[in-house]
Amino acid sequence: MVKVTLIPGDGIGPEVAYATRDVIDATGAQIEWEEVNAGETVYKEKGTFIPDELIESINKNRIAFKGPITTPVGKGFKSINVTLRQKYKTYANVRPVKSIPGVKSPFNNIDLVIMRENTEDLYAGIEHEVTEGVTEAIKVITEEASTKIAEFAFKYAIENGRKKVTAVHKANIMKITDGLFIRCARKVAEKYPQIEYEEVIVDNMCMQLVMYPEKYDVLVLPNLYGDIVSDLCAGLVGGLGLVPGANIGDDIGIFEAVHGSAPDIAGQNLANPIACILSGAMLLDYIGEKEKAQMVRKAVWAVMEEGKVKTRDLGGTASTKEITAEICRQISLQ
Ligand code: NAI
Ligand code: MG
Repeated sequence: MVKVTLIPGDGIGPEVAYATRDVIDATGAQIEWEEVNAGETVYKEKGTFIPDELIESINKNRIAFKGPITTPVGKGFKSINVTLRQKYKTYANVRPVKSIPGVKSPFNNIDLVIMRENTEDLYAGIEHEVTEGVTEAIKVITEEASTKIAEFAFKYAIENGRKKVTAVHKANIMKITDGLFIRCARKVAEKYPQIEYEEVIVDNMCMQLVMYPEKYDVLVLPNLYGDIVSDLCAGLVGGLGLVPGANIGDDIGIFEAVHGSAPDIAGQNLANPIACILSGAMLLDYIGEKEKAQMVRKAVWAVMEEGKVKTRDLGGTASTKEITAEICRQISLQ
């Protein structure tokens, strides 16, 4: 039995996190879920966003599955998501973006992986008002974190039969910070001559991705560009309801979808659980249950290809529960 901390989260979080637990359980994987919540609901009960039980549970299990957690805009507390990523030093945010059959999109052959640096950049949280009407935020880029994410990207490319790594930056303007990021990526690239390496400036990257996404393989980006480009890429394959993710550190993995808590559809049984379910497949890979991970992906692919059961974001009418049941049924047929 592998013990996994299950954080249901806010908004659509519990709906999609429980859907994922049910799908993983349907594969017969030997996982024992230890449920401990964080976020708004916990704050209302306990006056803290991240309870001690959660810290203890993650410290002990080193593997967590997390639903999205709400962060207020322009005021209030620091993002719980960013706090957990920094606390557990999950320096790599891995987000595979792949075309899924049966989903309406101008492209059908996208297969790229976003490697987002996950601990620093403008997310360091160093922000202040200098005087009234003048504000500053500090962009922190270190040699250590930039080298780590570049190493991770190249190793991943080798281990997963990928051909090219593209480093994304704005070093023409941020010559010192993004300049350092690019120098670190170049240095790592020299160690992997079998992998093609290129550099693209982030604004051009957005245009290239919207026009020619099939040209890209592994992208490595500082935190902020990685965040933005992730949602852009999600849009290319059918939306946020489909793109999974993993926060990986040296001996820790926290798995969560790219999307947020979607308050506009929360509690209505409307959310697409596929992004979370595919994050669950990444968790299965991480614990060495590769066959079970494939079972999950095959089931999702089969349901989408058949096209009868689809959630509203993909133009269908199925509920979160209906599509989850259909994915579990497909697993039972394998
Ligand atoms: P969002 O990703 O929650 O939603 C953006 C749009 O996509 C909404 O229209 C939503 O309905 C739709 N959407 C997202 N996931 C979906 C799904 N699974 N199925 C169907 N439709 C889906 O982004 P938004 O609205 O900017 O943020 C809402 C909250 O989530 C904020 O408090 C934000 O801070 C938080 N957030 C949390 C994240 C995390 O926990 N890792 C990541 C991103 C945002
Ligand atoms: Mg984001």
